Parts: sequence; structure tokens; C-alpha cells
Amino acid sequence: MNNKISFQILNKTNMEEYKRIRLEGLKNSPLNFGSSFEEESLFNNKKWISRLSNNNAITFGALIESKLVGVVTLTLNTRLKTKHTAEIHAMYVSETHQRKGIGSKLINSLIEYSKGLKTIEQITLSVEKENESAIKLYRKSGFMRFAEVPLALKVENKYYDFIMMNMFLK
Ligand SMILES: CC(C)(COP(=O)(O)OP(=O)(O)OC[C@H]1O[C@@H](n2cnc3c(N)ncnc32)[C@H](O)[C@@H]1OP(=O)(O)O)[C@@H](O)C(=O)NCCC(=O)NCCS
Repeated sequence: MNNKISFQILNKTNMEEYKRIRLEGLKNSPLNFGSSFEEESLFNNKKWISRLSNNNAITFGALIESKLVGVVTLTLNTRLKTKHTAEIHAMYVSETHQRKGIGSKLINSLIEYSKGLKTIEQITLSVEKENESAIKLYRKSGFMRFAEVPLALKVENKYYDFIMMNMFLK
């Protein structure tokens, strides 16, 4: 494992790198995200900054020096009846850095952070049904499948099913 990698919560100073890796992920893995390169490549810098300045959407990054090689976002639900839950979004590790344990460490950082908040009882995520690498990673990190969402994504007139996974922290 490369010991030059650091893990941290990103803020607006990471905007350029975050934008770069997020657009790279959307371009390289169009079936693995609900959003699209077409939509997000139109975002202005203000929008990217607001993403990294949102207290209810915390983005964890894996950095080699100043270069981001992996990201994942924890979205906290804020409504009275759902604020005990949070969701994982936008998980991506650059292709050249995959399979080195970076994804697992990002998820572990996110879980530990969630536990530290004391209010989060459950974390959920959705993942494309055929995305074996991500499903394996989530399972290894302690997530369990609880539902299937048929035809969740439609890309170029083809449909893709997603599965839902969760982890109870209490
Ligand atoms: C899924 C993804 C985040 C995994 O990141 P990663 O840094 O490569 O994952 P890790 O190295 O921490 O792997 C952890 C475990 O996941 C599983 N895994 C990861 N990549 C795998 C692959 N290509 N094939 C099979 N299993 C894989 C393995 O069980 C692995 O543990 P092991 O190496 O001890 O066997 C990365 O492949 C990625 O960014 N994919 C494209 C975007 C994506 O699918 N995002 C998820 C959206 S829900």
C-alpha cells in the first residue's frame, strides 16, 4: 500500500481537483452514477464550491500529495423523521489506483465519521446490480443488500437494475 496517501474531508480549496476526478468518474463509469458527465460538465465553479461547502454532504478524499485519487460523499438526511439516516453517494477511485485498498479506506473513514456524529443509526446506498467490484467492497465493509430497484437507470435506451444496501450503526 502506498504510504504517501492521505485521507481527509474535502473543502472548497479542493474544488479544482474534486471537479476533475468527479468528471473523470462520470465519464469512465456512466452506469455507476445517477448523475451524468453531460449534466455536471456544465456546472460552474460556484456550484462545485457549494458541493464542497455543504455541511450535510461531506466528501471524503484520498490524496497523493495534492492529487485526488478517490472520493466518496456522505449525505446526511436532515428532515425530522429521517435524520437518523444517511446515504453514500459518488464513490469513485481513479482507474490507475483501483484495487489498492483506497475504496475500502474511504468507506471506513465515512463509517467512523458517521459513528462519531452519534445521531446516525443507518447508512444506505444503491449500486448497479452488475457492479461486482463495488458490491464486494460494500459487503466487505459490512453493508447488506435489502432491496432491488428494477429499471432504476436508463442509459441510451437500455435499463439497469440497482440494489440497495444498508448498514446499521446501532
Ligand atoms: C468500486 C471502486 C470504488 C472500488 O475501489 P477500490 O479502491 O478499487 O477498492 P479496494 O481496493 O478497496 O477493494 C476492496 C474490495 O472490493 C472488492 N473489489 C474491488 N475492486 C474489485 C474488482 N475489480 N474485482 C473484484 N473485486 C473487487 C474486493 O473484494 C476488494 O478486496 P480485496 O482486494 O481484498 O479482494 C472502484 O472500482 C471504482 O471507482 N469503480 C467505478 C465507480 C463505481 O463503481 N463506484 C461505485 C458506485 S455505487
